[in-house]
Amino acid sequence: TWGWGHHSLPFQPIAPVPASVDALTVPKGWTWSPIIRWGDPLFSDAPTFSLDAQSPAAQARQFGYNSDYLDILADRSGKTGVLVNNHEYVNPNIMFPPSTDAAELRRRGEVYKAAQGMSVVEITRRRRGAPWRYVVDGRRNRRITLETVFELTGPAAGSDLVKTAADPEGRWVKGTLGNCAGGTTPWGTILSGEENFNGYFAWAADTAGQKRYQASSSRTTSTGWEQYDPRFNSFDAGYVNEPNRFGYIVEIDPEDPTSTPKKHTAMGRFKHEGANVIVAEDRRVVAYMGDDERNDYLYKFVSKNRISSSRKKNMTLLSEGDLFVARFRGDSPAAQIDGSGTLPADGAFDGTGEWVPLTRNGKSVVPGMTIEEVLVFTRLAADKVGATKMDRPEDVQPSPRTGKVYVALTNNTDRGKTSMVDEANPRTGNRYGHVIELTERRGQAGTSFGWSILLQCGNPSDPSTYFAGYPKDKVSPISCPDNLAFDEDGTLWISTDGAPSTIGFNDGLFRVPLEGRERGHVQQFLAVPREAETCGPVIHAREKLVFVAVQHPGENGTVLAPTSLFPDYGSTRRGDVPNAPRPSVVQVYPA
Ligand code: FEO
Ligand code: CA
Ligand code: CA
Ligand code: CA
Repeated sequence: TWGWGHHSLPFQPIAPVPASVDALTVPKGWTWSPIIRWGDPLFSDAPTFSLDAQSPAAQARQFGYNSDYLDILADRSGKTGVLVNNHEYVNPNIMFPPSTDAAELRRRGEVYKAAQGMSVVEITRRRRGAPWRYVVDGRRNRRITLETVFELTGPAAGSDLVKTAADPEGRWVKGTLGNCAGGTTPWGTILSGEENFNGYFAWAADTAGQKRYQASSSRTTSTGWEQYDPRFNSFDAGYVNEPNRFGYIVEIDPEDPTSTPKKHTAMGRFKHEGANVIVAEDRRVVAYMGDDERNDYLYKFVSKNRISSSRKKNMTLLSEGDLFVARFRGDSPAAQIDGSGTLPADGAFDGTGEWVPLTRNGKSVVPGMTIEEVLVFTRLAADKVGATKMDRPEDVQPSPRTGKVYVALTNNTDRGKTSMVDEANPRTGNRYGHVIELTERRGQAGTSFGWSILLQCGNPSDPSTYFAGYPKDKVSPISCPDNLAFDEDGTLWISTDGAPSTIGFNDGLFRVPLEGRERGHVQQFLAVPREAETCGPVIHAREKLVFVAVQHPGENGTVLAPTSLFPDYGSTRRGDVPNAPRPSVVQVYPA
């Protein structure tokens, strides 16, 4: 039996790694290797990666940039499988040397379009439990880019708010943007959150709806697409609505490379970090979702229909259902929530809360807004019902074992300025973030919950930190929780994004037991190289395999003066040819 104190994956925690170190650090007795790197060919008609020979055509057939959400899905044999990975955005400064040539910048813009999106890659290994390698020309290999056509589903599909000159029906969107975290559904599809889509558009931002997603109007973007492609220029009359077609949860079927991926309007539009699905007691499915912006909200979607044995039917579950937003209430006197992070007299930042409906049975329940408006301008709808402003909700993950829901709140330096401290977000200028544990009171699909703060992150020497009561002298420093994952033992794992600039260490991956005497015992498993973020952790504890996506290593460098050379460390350098780090998917296993 697998008791709560048991760990299938024993390791000696690593010491925190100073932020100047350009190395992937794993525990003693463990080693690592990349499975696939930016630019590795998915198809034999794609060239071997070369930094100085990048082209849009090559990149569309190669692994994309800035790996984020990751899953490793083994087939029944355990010897083949599929790897799915988001490519959130690009770092032009470490992909190309500087240029002011207009034609060259436009050519690069098309490389960026092909480098974003998602990859599906077949993987193979000698035997169950061994490390994986990827397969060129695998049956399921697929690149999803800014050119891939998505179908809009749900009540806002076909509405005037999503029609453009190129899509007068308002049903077919070219591309996906800002694919951050995600989730794998019980029916084997992949969900991916369109997060910072706003930055890709020259945006008029002259309506309340537009302003709520893009604070200022800007005529230039970092990719330059708006200079030559009208759909990224919403000052163009035909494309005013183009930004309304991004900011959704997308669903792809990794088994069928010819399938049309979906964008689900019923799950609302915001800066979706990701979505994680759990099956409720009555067999409806529930998805938990965060809107990653300072002072934005936590959401939940409950499907109308029940999960069945038909995979095809299950792939329509997220097109119809009700959307809710969270309102938190503390149980301690407000005077005890003073912004310092000191626990109130009852010993816990905790309380109750409710899921406030935004839609019911396919109709809006928000005064003055139609269902289409609620689903396209979801932030405005949530503002109206008095949702609780949170400290940047990132990954939201239900425990497959207990149904309790874990919410990563990465940080919010504006807390106390643009929003007041409250018991659910109790630290002024929250630099280090926290993690909330939420317990549904009337079933997974119900509307009332209890909650408490599990972790207040930071260096444990900081008096405002809290590790579920575990002794602070025995935990690893952790800052800016971003992605969450569970292993087969029901233990939580947290990866971080922001430790270098807050506690001075490289970002990493941490194990956090939730039950018994070990609850809150945060231990660091790995650290990513310089200037990288740790993403998409996948923990196959019983196979002793850990996978992470290493995003934006060396992001502050240039190709002429790189600050990281992960993962090849110069081995690809030729003479004075510029060199660059390569975002990669990495596996960690016993040496
Ligand atoms: Fe792309 Fe919220 O991190
Ligand atoms: Ca309390
Ligand atoms: Ca993230
Ligand atoms: Ca992040």
